Amino acid sequence: MHADFVKVVEVGPRDGLQNEKILVPTGIKVALIDQLSDAGFVNIEAASFVSPKWVPQMADGAQVMAGIRRRPGTLYSALTPNMKGLEAALAAGVDEVVIFGAASEAFSQKNINCSIAESMARFAPVASAAKAHGLRLRASVSCALGCPYQGEVPVSAVAEVVRGMRELGCDEIDIADTIGVGTPEKVREVMRAASTEFPRAALSGHFHDTYGHALANVVASLEAGIRIFHSSVAGLGGCPYAEGATGNVATESLLRLLQDMGLETGIDLGKVVVAAQFVSEAVGKR
Ligand code: HMG
Ligand code: MG
Repeated sequence: MHADFVKVVEVGPRDGLQNEKILVPTGIKVALIDQLSDAGFVNIEAASFVSPKWVPQMADGAQVMAGIRRRPGTLYSALTPNMKGLEAALAAGVDEVVIFGAASEAFSQKNINCSIAESMARFAPVASAAKAHGLRLRASVSCALGCPYQGEVPVSAVAEVVRGMRELGCDEIDIADTIGVGTPEKVREVMRAASTEFPRAALSGHFHDTYGHALANVVASLEAGIRIFHSSVAGLGGCPYAEGATGNVATESLLRLLQDMGLETGIDLGKVVVAAQFVSEAVGKR
């Protein structure tokens, strides 16, 4: 990868829309993903194969995947917490599956109804089946910078989950600030700890923007050598199991920052702005 290239993973169709109270029609999700594909993203998080009782908004993952126009060169990802999710993801033809754990015990229980150790045991068959089917495997580490239930999360806890995810054979690992409490200093510390366990080039920053820290945390991560970031078109989102947490950093703002810093993304900002207007209108947001 060129030193000036930054990979931006668009997570709006999943992390962004999962938190919308009104059920977003499948056709809107498909149209949004098609617009984002056309804007040139190499990776779009398109769906979640989780329990529809836990996250009703994501219940139409199979229909979304069947409806989209696949752009050659774009990977379409989906969240898969267990084997049931993996089987659905395989049937839907996703390119990459995402196992999602947490660095906080309390959040693990609230989000996926099991302890961190149990989640790792549950992810193991998912990871090996994903690999056996030639899928790319990504892992997300939630609450890496703080937890809505337990508060402080030690850096050592993040490093331990990153190590566990590496042992499962993950190709990429996301360091997620689920509730947006990270500061540049803490982000540098966590990225440093994570990169002792996993190649820095395959670590990503997934920053929610609850307190407006996300872009500062992106800059801190860039300084720490991180070159993959997640963002959500129009800054949509939040986590249904992290009350009060707002959306991911807005893709438009992230692209603008990277562009102004002279970094390449290969993404058409103008098309992203149009997609942001489209989805904001569709979900009734400004
Ligand atoms: P559970 O209740 O312990 O699971 O939930 P279970 O195995 O006992 O199954 C209960 C029911 O769910 C059964 O149905 C299963 O069939 C069904 P019933 O017999 O009652 O009719 N079920 C499923 N259905 C569809 N797809 C599946 C599936 N699995 C079970 N894959 C479970 C455990 C993990 C399933 C549940 O807790 C869950 O779905 N959690 C998902 C929560 C979620 O999606 N949270 C948001 C995404 S994470 C996030 O946003 C953070 C991230 O952005 C990074 C960051 O910012 O931190 C990634
Ligand atoms: Mg998130």
